[in-house]
This record gives sequence, C-alpha cells and structure tokens, in this order.
Amino acid sequence: MTPLSAPFPHGRPRRLRRTPWIRDLVAEARLSPADLIWPLFVREGTDLAEPVASLPGVARLSIDRAVAAAEEAAGLGIPCIALFPNTEAADKNPEATEAWNPENLVCRATRAIKAAVPELGVLLDVALDPYNSEGHDGLVRDGVVQNDETLLALEKMALVQAEAGADILGPSDMMDGRIGVIRGALEAHEFPDVLIMSYAAKYASSFYGPFRDAVGATGALKGDKKTYQMDPANGAEALREVAIDLAEGADMVMVKPGLPYLDICARVKTEFGVPTFAYQVSGEYAMIEAAAANGWIDGERAMMESLIAFRRAGCDGILTYHAARAARLLRDRAAG
Ligand code: PBG
Repeated sequence: MTPLSAPFPHGRPRRLRRTPWIRDLVAEARLSPADLIWPLFVREGTDLAEPVASLPGVARLSIDRAVAAAEEAAGLGIPCIALFPNTEAADKNPEATEAWNPENLVCRATRAIKAAVPELGVLLDVALDPYNSEGHDGLVRDGVVQNDETLLALEKMALVQAEAGADILGPSDMMDGRIGVIRGALEAHEFPDVLIMSYAAKYASSFYGPFRDAVGATGALKGDKKTYQMDPANGAEALREVAIDLAEGADMVMVKPGLPYLDICARVKTEFGVPTFAYQVSGEYAMIEAAAANGWIDGERAMMESLIAFRRAGCDGILTYHAARAARLLRDRAAG
C-alpha cells in the first residue's frame, strides 16, 4: 500500500531530506559493524600477507597474520570472520582428501583463532573446490559431478571443521541433500550447537573469478558449475532451495552473489523471515575497487551505498571483503 501523503505543496518530500540530522532521523535502514562477516584467505608460512592481484587490498594471510586480522575484526565489533584456504597444489587431488584432514590449513587456522579470540565467530565453507584438483565443488567421475558421493566427503569435512572449533558451517557446494547430511552428522557426533549458514541460493556466476584466483582454483576448473549452481534467470527456484535447506536443518540462509540478486534477498526475507545473509562476492568487490582506482567512482561511498542496499533489501548481514574498512569508517563516524 502506498502511504498517504498530502498533495503538493502541502506535501513536500524534500522536507525530510534538507539536513543531515533529519535524514539520519528518518533513515529506514542502518548499518553497523555487527552486520558484517569478513572473509579472509589463509595460506601456509609465517608472517606473510601475499596480495591477491584481482582483489586489491586483500591478501592471503599466513595463520599468524590471520590471527592478527581476527583480533582486528573483534576490536572493530565485527562478530564473525569466514576462512578460505589457499591450498598448496601438492595437497590437491581428485578425491579432495585434504578437505577432511584434521590438520588442514583452515582447521589449524580455526584452532589458532579460537584460542586467541574465542569471542569471535568463525565460519568455514563446506565445499571441496579448494582441495579438488578438478576445481569443482563435487567429486568428478567421467566428467560428471557426483551428488551422493560428494555428500559422503562433505560429511567428513564438516566433522573435522566442527572438531576444530568452527562456530558456523557454510555448505557452499549446492549438492542436493547436503544440509540434512551435515546436520545429521553434527547431531550424531555431539555437535548440536554448530550453526549452519546454508549457501541456499547460490548462482553460477561470473563474479567469483577473483575468489578462484585467491584460493588457487582458477587453473584447475574445467568448464563451469552450471550443473549445480543456479541459473541467474531463476527466482522462484531460489525460494524452493531455501525451503529445502531450512527443512533439512539450516539455521540461516545466504544469497550469493549479492547486489545483482537483491530481489532474491528481499523475497527470501519476506517469504521465510529467517536470518538472511548476502555474500557480496569477489567480483563485486573488484568492480568497486577497480573503478575507484581509476578515479571513476568514489570507492568509499560506493562501498557504503552497496552495504546499506543489502540492509534495505532485508539482509540481516553481509559477507564482504570490505568489512574491516567499512567497520573502521562506521566507528570513525560514530566518534564524530
Ligand atoms: C566455493 C566458494 C566460492 C565462493 C565462496 N565459496 C566460489 C565458487 O563457488 O566457485 C565465491 C566467493 C567470492 O567470489 O567472493 N564453493
């Protein structure tokens, strides 16, 4: 329903926009550091921050540096970080076995971070692609990504991650039935409190390119992920995917990518009313940074405008590589 307003000249919408204080007073959406999840890339080594060329300002961090970043996040009021591994080529194979090695990079990083900053949430991706020499999120047999066989691998992977201390598991592979299998395994192995944030509506997107560089999956992937990730043409299907994941035991759901799919975010939040997150993915970040570096847009304003757009669309939180920078800006603004 359109709200009633007096016709011009009694009604003058610009009255509510005249000064900063009145704009603040009537702002419908708010953004705070508490709404942000900061994805970090980890690598082997010590005291290393290796820049990712396609993600200016983002680096692959050795575990000690990831711990420092986690401390920074907590200091900024960011409630949760997400860890992604840059797996050494020697640790990748077609069975993706490193995914359920309890001593793999993300498990070691999680233990180090939970020891140093126990109050900070840690989210781990459950998907085989960083470990799979085929580059796919599922196991590949004769060129075909196998659903049910992949579920067995995901189950083992989820359990080592829970054991390492992950607070939230984020199944991001889009295999059918994964949430139920992981939830069942967590219950059976006495991890009833581990949260699941399902990448429920994850699209086969061109915007993941820089991420695949960051985790070293670009060269490995043959073909595309269209047999499991969603067709960008589909909206109703996203609602079905969300319904399935909730029924299987997800606590929270995610839409990914972010800005091109704000309609999906809004529909999911309206339809289900569950905690709803958007992943502003690597390509979205890279576009803002590239345009800003060329002087074509004001990068800081574009960053804040994108983030408030997610909140306006109904998202409870946003995974964004801009999290620390945005949180710093919000803190400085609050301090005046
Ligand atoms: C792995 C995964 C991807 C991203 C998050 N988890 C890449 C993919 O599905 O190919 C993308 C994140 C980003 O682009 O920032 N399943």
